[in-house]
Amino acid sequence: MIARKNRAVSGGLGDHRGDVEAKDNTAYFEMSFCPNVELVSVVRRFISSVYDRLFDDADAAARVALAAHELLENAVRYASDNVTGLRIELASGGAQSVVTITTKNRASEEDAVKTQGLIREIAGEPDPFRLYQAKMRATAGSKEGSGLGLARVRAEADMTLRCDREGDLITVTARAELPAEAAHV
Ligand SMILES: Nc1ncnc2c1ncn2[C@@H]1O[C@H](COP(=O)(O)OP(=O)(O)OP(=O)(O)O)[C@@H](O)[C@H]1O
Ligand SMILES: [Mg+2]
Repeated sequence: MIARKNRAVSGGLGDHRGDVEAKDNTAYFEMSFCPNVELVSVVRRFISSVYDRLFDDADAAARVALAAHELLENAVRYASDNVTGLRIELASGGAQSVVTITTKNRASEEDAVKTQGLIREIAGEPDPFRLYQAKMRATAGSKEGSGLGLARVRAEADMTLRCDREGDLITVTARAELPAEAAHV
């Protein structure tokens, strides 16, 4: 019997409401690293070996890798201290697996508000590719951060996003449902 429950997510911003959670088997790793800038390349190498272990499907592995790359980059670049948290979880049960990537970091008020606003915008957009392309056009030629990473996660990795905030602590989560055969625990 496949254990499933409907989860009504409260609080936070994003589009994970009404998610179905697969619960039979769960694999995850969770880490917090400091100093984050110095260690991020080591962490990237480690997590790519995790995708190799968990995903049988190249497309699923590529989507998760893209999302983890963007979220991790943000959680290091915009952290207001030297600490970044990362969790990657794969829950398998029945016809689907659910993968979640979560980052945690402390952030300035400005960055926290920007993240929340952007994730609200992304979650409210029915056509993620249209939003991503509009952002690409808007930032073409700009020398600042391109402001495309989160929109890209939604459009190209096809993962939904949410953001939770407790004071200056920002938690960003990307989530996707994959066919069970794409991943194994
Ligand atoms: N983990 C985070 N902590 C603090 N602020 C964040 C975080 N993630 C995103 N932000 C804020 O949201 C903005 C948009 O992030 P996004 O990844 O979409 O684009 P970017 O990082 O500016 O550019 P790109 O990812 O294209 O190089 C960032 O500029 C930053 O202000
Ligand atoms: Mg970014």
